[in-house]
Amino acid sequence: MRKKIPLLRLPYTKNERSYISRGLQEILNSGFLTMSKKVTHFEELFAKFIGTKFAVAVNSGTSALEIPLRALGVKGKSIIIPTNTFMATPLAALHAGAKVVFADISSETLSIDPKEIEKRITNNTVGVIPVHIGGIISPQWREIEKICKSNNLFILEDAAHAHGSEINNKKAGTLGIAASFSFYPTKILNTGEGGMITTNDKSLYKKFITLRDHGKENPKKNIHTDLGYNWRMAEITALFGIQQVKKVNKILYERKKQADLYNKILINTPNLKLQEVPKQLKSSYYKYIVFVNKSIRDKIKTKMLKNFGITLPGEVYNTLCHSQPVLKKNKNLLIKKGDQSFKNAKKISSEQLCLPLYPGLKDVEIKYVAHCLKKLLNDFA
Ligand SMILES: Cc1ncc(COP(=O)(O)O)c(C=O)c1O
Repeated sequence: MRKKIPLLRLPYTKNERSYISRGLQEILNSGFLTMSKKVTHFEELFAKFIGTKFAVAVNSGTSALEIPLRALGVKGKSIIIPTNTFMATPLAALHAGAKVVFADISSETLSIDPKEIEKRITNNTVGVIPVHIGGIISPQWREIEKICKSNNLFILEDAAHAHGSEINNKKAGTLGIAASFSFYPTKILNTGEGGMITTNDKSLYKKFITLRDHGKENPKKNIHTDLGYNWRMAEITALFGIQQVKKVNKILYERKKQADLYNKILINTPNLKLQEVPKQLKSSYYKYIVFVNKSIRDKIKTKMLKNFGITLPGEVYNTLCHSQPVLKKNKNLLIKKGDQSFKNAKKISSEQLCLPLYPGLKDVEIKYVAHCLKKLLNDFA
């Protein structure tokens, strides 16, 4: 029987709703709507979950990238970024005053290829922003680290997809000088809008909290020492964040279970490649990514909806950053170092499909999605 599988569901249980209602009353009674107890509590819980000394709550994942970049002083320098990411990654670098050097990815890991980093370094490159695509940390992380260390480049993790992802038992968010998380509604933990920066570096942490608050070192005094901005988080947002982070292990368990079920049904399907998650990794399963021949990818997407009522979530990513119109119009923002064909990223981008995976998606729905995909692949064969 035809089912309707939407892009996303955000189920809140009765208990969760009453927890949020109670928290809202507390906020109203406190007289503080922003940057107070809830924000501090959310930061403490998040730092504990990731395993860093510090976490700084901000108003988006994009600002959680821009703040560290500003703190690291990237103005006038260049940053290496994989072209296969959301535009927030290069936009944050550009707004922090850096130029962007795009790099290709590895088609196996979906992450920046370590050799690409070496090839793209210019005389003023100061850092790299690896992106843990779909929740998968690059299994080549040691190589990435080694190359960055020997070239004196910082690593800022874009962990927008990777709350709870791990490599060799180390969590995303602990792997570079700092990391950025997003709480956009589709993300593993969601607060509507919001972001978090994690770091173990005390002096950077101090810069982050200054920059977040219009450049004031002391929030109580109207003295501005840095070129900051309003990147603060509201108390209501933090309340949602606390509710989410308290159940993060449950969320991650459910996502993994859904991915395992897809794997079980889809393994050995002709004309379908599954994304491998090597043993030393734990994925957050922000996305469940599969690959089909590029000649049928868009047709499958259309037919999944038209024939079976299944809306497939967006790919990561179907339009590569280097080809975005805004960057074609503003060529001076980029430094084009090395081969500009980005072959692996293009291949991944044209062959991938992401299957629905979100809280509350039932086994019967996953089976339905997987069987509909198999049927279409068979029809197209
Ligand atoms: C890879 C990546 N980086 C950064 C961001 C930016 O996060 P936000 O939308 O919270 O600003 C996103 C969010 O979609 C993302 O997917």
